[in-house]
Amino acid sequence: MRQLIAGNWKMNGLGASLAELDVIANHVASHPPHADILICPPATLIARAVATAKECLAIGGQDCRAEISGAFTGDVSAEMLKDAGAAFVIVGHSERRQYHQETDATVAAKANAAHRAGLVAIVCIGETEAERNAGKALDVVARQIEGSVPQQAPISSIVIAYEPVWAIGTGRTPTSSEIAEMHAHLRKRLIARLGAHAKDVRLLYGGSVKPSNAREILALPEVGGALVGGASLKASDFQPIFEAAARNS
Ligand code: PGA
Repeated sequence: MRQLIAGNWKMNGLGASLAELDVIANHVASHPPHADILICPPATLIARAVATAKECLAIGGQDCRAEISGAFTGDVSAEMLKDAGAAFVIVGHSERRQYHQETDATVAAKANAAHRAGLVAIVCIGETEAERNAGKALDVVARQIEGSVPQQAPISSIVIAYEPVWAIGTGRTPTSSEIAEMHAHLRKRLIARLGAHAKDVRLLYGGSVKPSNAREILALPEVGGALVGGASLKASDFQPIFEAAARNS
């Protein structure tokens, strides 16, 4: 399966930032990469980003509410993201789990909402530094898979992003063998939960992916792509990352 290289702009980006997206889209059009490319800008930019992307790359949301509509001031539904032209939505990012107290159950409901709306959900999981130091990383992510990945969702509507919380925005990453160990574990847990066809679910690595480490990480077994934060904001950083995608389609 082709790798997926996803950029998460977080709460960064005004209309002027679409110039970076335009550079990325033109680059993808003239040098088609081996990977599928996705940018998740803030919700305010989605519709304009879809126009700028010119179908060279996909656009996604960073969160959605589980309900279709209603009295939920400030929230955005999966259907609204779809209507704005999004194809994906990130759910359960550790910043949502931390700052908005999202539980595994909330995340599962959002993943279901994504499927209902016709979006692919990128379900984020990952251990904290204390959990890793206590030797609990594998157990923590196994529990998050049980709680956050809806059992009834079709395989094609789910992507998993393994993002150790301590690696996000810190410049630190697990070693290659730790990433490989974790991704092998995630594959087993997903197959146990969803069945043998879960072998086709893309497992992204996220947390301080940058041009200097992308090639090594993307070459690891069971790594189906990357979720990139800071290094997705500038075309000059993001391009070398998606050009490092493994040719395995
Ligand atoms: P980072 O963020 O690449 O800036 O570490 C990754 C993420 O939070 O998705």
